[in-house]
Amino acid sequence: MVLLLQSACLLPAVMVICFSFTGDAVRYDPNWSSLDARPLPTWYDEAKIGIFVHWGVFSVPSFGEFSEWFWYHWKSEIRTDVIQFMLENYPPSFEYADFASDFRAEFFDPDAWADIFKSSGARYVVFTSKHHEGFCNWPSKVSWNWNSMDVGPHRDLVGELAAAVKKRSIHWGLYHSLYEWYNPLYLLDKANGFKTQDFVAMKTLPELMDLVLTYKPELIWSDGDWEADDTYWNATQFLAWLYNDSPVKDQVVTNDRWGKNCECKHGGYFNCNDRYTPTTPPDHKWEKCQTIDTKSWGYRRKMRLIEVMDLPSIVKDMVNVVSMGGNYLLNIGPTSTGMIAPVFEERLKGLGDWLDINGEAIYASSVWKVQTENTTVDLSYTSKNTTVYAVIFGWPSNQIVRLNTPKTSAATKVTLLDYPGTPLKWAPLTQAGGLVVLMPTMPASPANAWTLKLEGVV
Ligand SMILES: *[C@@H]1O[C@H](CO)[C@@H](O)[C@H](O)[C@H]1NC(C)=O
Ligand SMILES: *[C@@H]1O[C@H](CO)[C@@H](O)[C@H](O)[C@H]1NC(C)=O
Ligand SMILES: *[C@@H]1O[C@H](CO)[C@@H](O)[C@H](O)[C@H]1NC(C)=O
Ligand SMILES: *[C@@H]1O[C@H](CO)[C@@H](O)[C@H](O)[C@H]1NC(C)=O
Repeated sequence: MVLLLQSACLLPAVMVICFSFTGDAVRYDPNWSSLDARPLPTWYDEAKIGIFVHWGVFSVPSFGEFSEWFWYHWKSEIRTDVIQFMLENYPPSFEYADFASDFRAEFFDPDAWADIFKSSGARYVVFTSKHHEGFCNWPSKVSWNWNSMDVGPHRDLVGELAAAVKKRSIHWGLYHSLYEWYNPLYLLDKANGFKTQDFVAMKTLPELMDLVLTYKPELIWSDGDWEADDTYWNATQFLAWLYNDSPVKDQVVTNDRWGKNCECKHGGYFNCNDRYTPTTPPDHKWEKCQTIDTKSWGYRRKMRLIEVMDLPSIVKDMVNVVSMGGNYLLNIGPTSTGMIAPVFEERLKGLGDWLDINGEAIYASSVWKVQTENTTVDLSYTSKNTTVYAVIFGWPSNQIVRLNTPKTSAATKVTLLDYPGTPLKWAPLTQAGGLVVLMPTMPASPANAWTLKLEGVV
């Protein structure tokens, strides 16, 4: 029932019905059967593309694979490259907390960031309010001397970026880590087998509610849940408040990282694993988070061009995700100075330029009966009402694209989104279905991907 209701929301014809379920009358109980039945606010599925931003004290050393895990790699996992880096570059007395004063954000221009996000065609942004290191990018009252107002930037990074993003009508989301590796309260609860909840009562819940009340995020990307159950985190109680009584109760979207028993099972949409890549469409709304720097979410000063996704890979990955009913959350890690590396900016702009032409096949699209084909060229299908879109990855060698699945009729019309006006010549492939399309002569595309729009096919 729950799954039926949620996937029904993907069908435009019943969206109106879907919407009526989010009216004031419905209240949610603090248990999963009630919370999971909440229809996902429709903006999220329509948005399709978001930008993920990992920024924190880890952006200062900005070293090693998964640079945002630097502190843990240094003190717990004991990774030799990180140990060596510290030995060679810092005095023995240097603590992780000492990095915070070098998190200066002196070039951080939230409007410049928001312009870059806008240029990518993304419809939402998810920003790290606090990663596992526990450093708060806003003036949290319960994170004394370990927040961006007391130390480092001396600015409210969350607040400044929220304002800039909202000004551009981009949906605003916050990443928030439930656990903090080295918070003494958390370590004490953990030592008690999570039978005490002092950390949750004094840190996690006050901060989550502060973030919601102060910055009104439309998306909460929960993380760091995996050492304890949802009952330790009081996740259902928090979500019932969020969905019933918070200022964002009607539009807020959440993910599934609310306890080690929740991933891919409970919450709003499903992230499952990082870089989750299903091969058939899941029956529940999902999102793939993916890094442009293939080796890290946080910035790495040793990043090499060969480790950075190129534009054709990004576009192909994104379209595949959308064809499977997913959203695509593409990550960048800014530098500690507050700069977004030009290579990231260039990739995001490239994505936006592609979407300016081909976005019709992406935003608010639905899953079609077939997702991918590999004929004369690799392609992915999306659909919108009775229109089918075939996004081809690469140009066919002899100007002819073969599509195996769509069934044509006399009324069928084929156009190329980058080639307005003139319909393309096509011919049916067999009695059973399929068609071949004669492509026009086109200049090269930086994304190496084009969209065929098929009207009057089934
Ligand atoms: C698709 O269908 C919905 C409802 O049936 C309608 O509101 C919408 O305008 C249609 N979209 C297009 C692009 O025709
Ligand atoms: C969820 O909570 C409501 C109200 O407390 C209760 O009626 C319902 O039985 C609960 N469901 C489950 C599965 O516990
Ligand atoms: C968690 O929820 C339970 C049940 O509602 C409540 O008794 C407890 O006080 C809550 N704990 C915290 C830390 O809010
Ligand atoms: C699609 O087919 C081409 C040539 O037939 C091949 O090179 C390519 O690897 C295939 N792609 C996939 C994803 O199977």
